[in-house]
Amino acid sequence: MDIKEAIEGRISVRAYQDKPVPKSIITEVLETARWAPSGTNTQPWKVVVAQGQSKQAITNALLDAARNGVKPNPDYLYYPEEWVEPFKGRRFQCGMDLYQALDIGREDKEKRLEASLANYRFFGAPVSLFFFIDNVMGKGSWFDMGMFLQSVMLAARGHGLGSCPQASTSDYPDLVRDILDVPDQYSLICGLSLGYPDDEMPVNQYRTRREDVESFTTWAD
Ligand SMILES: Cc1cc2nc3c(=O)[nH]c(=O)nc-3n(C[C@H](O)[C@H](O)[C@H](O)COP(=O)(O)O)c2cc1C
Repeated sequence: MDIKEAIEGRISVRAYQDKPVPKSIITEVLETARWAPSGTNTQPWKVVVAQGQSKQAITNALLDAARNGVKPNPDYLYYPEEWVEPFKGRRFQCGMDLYQALDIGREDKEKRLEASLANYRFFGAPVSLFFFIDNVMGKGSWFDMGMFLQSVMLAARGHGLGSCPQASTSDYPDLVRDILDVPDQYSLICGLSLGYPDDEMPVNQYRTRREDVESFTTWAD
Protein backbone atom coordinates (compact mmCIF):
# COMPACT_ATOMS: atom_id res chain seq x y z
CA MET A 1 0.00 0.00 0.00
CA ASP A 2 1.45 3.40 -0.86
CA ILE A 3 2.05 5.89 1.93
CA LYS A 4 -0.57 8.37 0.68
CA GLU A 5 -3.23 5.68 0.57
CA ALA A 6 -2.13 4.35 3.98
CA ILE A 7 -2.51 7.77 5.63
CA GLU A 8 -5.49 9.15 3.71
CA GLY A 9 -7.43 5.89 3.81
CA ARG A 10 -7.19 5.40 7.58
CA ILE A 11 -10.43 6.07 9.39
CA SER A 12 -11.65 5.41 12.90
CA VAL A 13 -13.41 2.06 12.61
CA ARG A 14 -16.46 1.67 14.87
CA ALA A 15 -17.84 -1.72 13.75
CA TYR A 16 -15.86 -4.96 13.44
CA GLN A 17 -16.25 -8.46 12.05
CA ASP A 18 -16.47 -11.26 14.57
CA LYS A 19 -13.09 -12.59 13.49
CA PRO A 20 -10.07 -13.05 15.72
CA VAL A 21 -6.74 -11.39 15.00
CA PRO A 22 -3.86 -13.87 15.30
CA LYS A 23 -1.23 -13.00 17.91
CA SER A 24 1.43 -13.19 15.17
CA ILE A 25 -0.29 -10.35 13.26
CA ILE A 26 -0.60 -8.15 16.36
CA THR A 27 3.09 -8.78 17.00
CA GLU A 28 3.97 -7.82 13.40
CA VAL A 29 2.00 -4.59 13.76
CA LEU A 30 3.95 -3.72 16.91
CA GLU A 31 7.23 -4.76 15.29
CA THR A 32 6.59 -2.18 12.57
CA ALA A 33 5.30 0.54 14.89
CA ARG A 34 8.34 0.32 17.19
CA TRP A 35 10.29 2.10 14.40
CA ALA A 36 8.39 5.29 15.23
CA PRO A 37 10.74 8.14 16.17
CA SER A 38 11.12 9.35 19.76
CA GLY A 39 13.22 12.08 21.37
CA THR A 40 16.73 10.70 22.04
CA ASN A 41 15.29 7.31 21.07
CA THR A 42 13.73 6.88 24.50
CA GLN A 43 10.89 4.74 23.08
CA PRO A 44 8.59 5.64 25.98
CA TRP A 45 5.69 3.41 24.92
CA LYS A 46 4.24 0.61 26.99
CA VAL A 47 1.49 -1.42 25.38
CA VAL A 48 -0.86 -3.96 26.90
CA VAL A 49 -2.85 -6.16 24.52
CA ALA A 50 -6.26 -7.02 25.96
CA GLN A 51 -8.39 -9.75 24.42
CA GLY A 52 -10.86 -12.31 25.70
CA GLN A 53 -11.24 -12.23 29.48
CA SER A 54 -9.18 -9.13 30.22
CA LYS A 55 -10.99 -7.10 27.55
CA GLN A 56 -14.36 -8.30 28.84
CA ALA A 57 -13.39 -7.45 32.42
CA ILE A 58 -12.48 -3.92 31.31
CA THR A 59 -15.76 -3.54 29.42
CA ASN A 60 -17.71 -4.66 32.50
CA ALA A 61 -15.80 -2.38 34.86
CA LEU A 62 -16.11 0.70 32.61
CA LEU A 63 -19.82 0.12 31.95
CA ASP A 64 -20.48 -0.38 35.66
CA ALA A 65 -18.65 2.80 36.58
CA ALA A 66 -20.47 4.85 33.94
CA ARG A 67 -23.88 3.41 34.77
CA ASN A 68 -23.36 4.05 38.47
CA GLY A 69 -22.53 7.68 37.76
CA VAL A 70 -18.89 7.40 38.87
CA LYS A 71 -17.10 10.59 37.81
CA PRO A 72 -14.36 9.92 35.24
CA ASN A 73 -10.86 10.64 36.59
CA PRO A 74 -8.51 10.40 33.59
CA ASP A 75 -4.76 10.73 34.18
CA TYR A 76 -4.63 13.87 32.03
CA LEU A 77 -6.95 16.45 30.49
CA TYR A 78 -7.28 15.60 26.84
CA TYR A 79 -9.60 18.49 25.99
CA PRO A 80 -9.89 22.10 27.15
CA GLU A 81 -12.24 22.73 30.07
CA GLU A 82 -13.89 25.48 28.04
CA TRP A 83 -14.32 25.03 24.33
CA VAL A 84 -13.65 27.95 21.99
CA GLU A 85 -13.79 28.35 18.22
CA PRO A 86 -12.62 26.96 15.86
CA PHE A 87 -12.27 23.77 17.91
CA LYS A 88 -15.75 23.94 19.37
CA GLY A 89 -17.35 23.99 15.91
CA ARG A 90 -15.19 21.17 14.58
CA ARG A 91 -15.99 19.04 17.60
CA PHE A 92 -19.70 19.71 17.15
CA GLN A 93 -19.51 18.79 13.44
CA CYS A 94 -17.61 15.61 14.29
CA GLY A 95 -20.41 14.53 16.65
CA MET A 96 -23.15 15.46 14.16
CA ASP A 97 -21.51 13.49 11.34
CA LEU A 98 -21.08 10.45 13.59
CA TYR A 99 -24.69 10.52 14.83
CA GLN A 100 -25.93 10.94 11.28
CA ALA A 101 -23.97 7.85 10.20
CA LEU A 102 -25.51 5.99 13.16
CA ASP A 103 -28.95 7.39 12.26
CA ILE A 104 -29.36 8.92 15.71
CA GLY A 105 -31.39 12.12 15.97
CA ARG A 106 -30.12 15.21 17.85
CA GLU A 107 -32.68 14.81 20.60
CA ASP A 108 -32.39 11.07 21.09
CA LYS A 109 -30.41 11.15 24.33
CA GLU A 110 -30.86 7.46 25.06
CA LYS A 111 -29.38 6.33 21.74
CA ARG A 112 -26.58 8.87 22.09
CA LEU A 113 -25.71 7.44 25.48
CA GLU A 114 -25.73 3.89 24.07
CA ALA A 115 -23.49 5.05 21.21
CA SER A 116 -21.07 6.56 23.67
CA LEU A 117 -21.08 3.42 25.85
CA ALA A 118 -20.20 1.39 22.72
CA ASN A 119 -16.70 2.79 23.28
CA TYR A 120 -16.42 0.64 26.40
CA ARG A 121 -17.34 -2.42 24.31
CA PHE A 122 -14.58 -1.49 21.91
CA PHE A 123 -17.21 -1.36 19.16
CA GLY A 124 -17.16 -5.15 19.00
CA ALA A 125 -13.42 -5.33 18.15
CA PRO A 126 -11.72 -8.57 19.22
CA VAL A 127 -8.61 -6.74 20.47
CA SER A 128 -7.96 -3.62 22.45
CA LEU A 129 -4.50 -2.20 22.91
CA PHE A 130 -3.80 0.07 25.86
CA PHE A 131 -1.05 2.67 25.67
CA PHE A 132 0.76 3.76 28.81
CA ILE A 133 3.63 6.11 29.56
CA ASP A 134 5.91 6.19 32.60
CA ASN A 135 5.17 9.27 34.73
CA VAL A 136 8.85 10.17 34.88
CA MET A 137 8.68 11.22 31.24
CA GLY A 138 7.97 14.82 30.19
CA LYS A 139 5.52 16.43 27.79
CA GLY A 140 7.78 15.78 24.79
CA SER A 141 7.49 12.05 25.23
CA TRP A 142 3.72 12.38 24.90
CA PHE A 143 4.18 13.35 21.26
CA ASP A 144 6.34 10.29 20.82
CA MET A 145 3.32 8.34 22.02
CA GLY A 146 1.17 10.05 19.36
CA MET A 147 3.61 9.09 16.63
CA PHE A 148 3.72 5.55 17.92
CA LEU A 149 -0.06 5.36 18.00
CA GLN A 150 -0.36 6.56 14.40
CA SER A 151 2.34 4.06 13.40
CA VAL A 152 0.32 1.26 15.00
CA MET A 153 -2.81 2.36 13.12
CA LEU A 154 -0.98 2.55 9.78
CA ALA A 155 0.85 -0.74 10.28
CA ALA A 156 -2.50 -2.34 11.13
CA ARG A 157 -3.90 -1.18 7.77
CA GLY A 158 -1.12 -3.05 6.03
CA HIS A 159 -2.64 -6.24 7.45
CA GLY A 160 -6.22 -5.31 6.47
CA LEU A 161 -7.00 -4.30 10.05
CA GLY A 162 -8.99 -1.29 11.19
CA SER A 163 -8.62 0.58 14.45
CA CYS A 164 -10.12 3.33 16.57
CA PRO A 165 -8.08 5.30 19.11
CA GLN A 166 -10.20 5.88 22.21
CA ALA A 167 -9.50 8.45 24.87
CA SER A 168 -12.85 7.44 26.37
CA THR A 169 -11.39 4.11 27.44
CA SER A 170 -9.04 6.02 29.75
CA ASP A 171 -11.91 7.66 31.65
CA TYR A 172 -11.29 5.37 34.63
CA PRO A 173 -7.56 4.57 34.45
CA ASP A 174 -7.38 2.95 37.90
CA LEU A 175 -9.86 0.27 36.86
CA VAL A 176 -7.87 -0.49 33.69
CA ARG A 177 -4.50 -0.53 35.48
CA ASP A 178 -5.91 -2.85 38.10
CA ILE A 179 -7.28 -5.37 35.58
CA LEU A 180 -4.16 -5.24 33.39
CA ASP A 181 -1.81 -5.31 36.37
CA VAL A 182 -0.04 -2.10 35.42
CA PRO A 183 1.64 -0.10 38.22
CA ASP A 184 0.35 3.39 39.13
CA GLN A 185 3.66 4.73 37.87
CA TYR A 186 2.20 4.59 34.35
CA SER A 187 -0.37 6.99 32.96
CA LEU A 188 -2.97 5.57 30.67
CA ILE A 189 -3.00 7.56 27.43
CA CYS A 190 -5.76 5.76 25.54
CA GLY A 191 -7.08 2.47 24.29
CA LEU A 192 -7.18 1.39 20.64
CA SER A 193 -9.78 -0.99 19.27
CA LEU A 194 -8.30 -3.29 16.65
CA GLY A 195 -9.87 -5.84 14.31
CA TYR A 196 -11.15 -6.56 10.83
CA PRO A 197 -13.57 -3.79 9.83
CA ASP A 198 -17.19 -4.52 9.05
CA ASP A 199 -17.31 -2.49 5.86
CA GLU A 200 -21.06 -3.01 5.44
CA MET A 201 -21.88 -0.89 8.48
CA PRO A 202 -22.79 2.74 7.67
CA VAL A 203 -20.71 3.94 10.64
CA ASN A 204 -17.62 2.80 8.73
CA GLN A 205 -18.75 4.39 5.48
CA TYR A 206 -18.63 8.10 6.27
CA ARG A 207 -15.57 10.31 6.28
CA THR A 208 -14.71 13.04 8.72
CA ARG A 209 -13.82 16.43 7.24
CA ARG A 210 -10.52 18.28 7.15
CA GLU A 211 -9.57 21.92 6.84
CA ASP A 212 -7.74 23.05 3.70
CA VAL A 213 -3.96 23.32 3.92
CA GLU A 214 -4.21 27.12 3.46
CA SER A 215 -6.26 27.41 6.65
CA PHE A 216 -3.45 26.17 8.89
CA THR A 217 -0.33 27.01 6.86
CA THR A 218 1.46 30.26 6.23
CA TRP A 219 4.54 30.56 4.08
CA ALA A 220 7.20 32.75 5.63
CA ASP A 221 9.49 34.65 3.24
C1 LIG B 1 -6.09 10.04 20.84
C2 LIG B 1 -7.46 9.92 20.22
C3 LIG B 1 -8.53 9.61 21.02
C4 LIG B 1 -9.79 9.40 20.45
N1 LIG B 1 -10.82 8.99 21.25
C5 LIG B 1 -11.99 8.59 20.69
C6 LIG B 1 -13.00 7.98 21.47
O1 LIG B 1 -12.89 7.85 22.69
N2 LIG B 1 -14.11 7.51 20.85
C7 LIG B 1 -14.28 7.63 19.50
O2 LIG B 1 -15.31 7.16 18.98
N3 LIG B 1 -13.33 8.21 18.72
C8 LIG B 1 -12.20 8.67 19.27
N4 LIG B 1 -11.20 9.21 18.50
C9 LIG B 1 -11.38 9.27 17.04
C10 LIG B 1 -11.60 10.69 16.53
O3 LIG B 1 -12.93 11.08 16.76
C11 LIG B 1 -11.27 10.68 15.03
O4 LIG B 1 -9.90 10.42 14.86
C12 LIG B 1 -11.60 12.00 14.34
O5 LIG B 1 -12.98 12.27 14.39
C13 LIG B 1 -11.17 11.96 12.87
O6 LIG B 1 -11.80 10.87 12.20
P1 LIG B 1 -10.98 9.70 11.51
O7 LIG B 1 -10.12 9.06 12.57
O8 LIG B 1 -12.04 8.75 11.00
O9 LIG B 1 -10.15 10.30 10.42
C14 LIG B 1 -9.97 9.54 19.05
C15 LIG B 1 -8.88 9.94 18.26
C16 LIG B 1 -7.64 10.13 18.84
C17 LIG B 1 -6.48 10.51 17.96
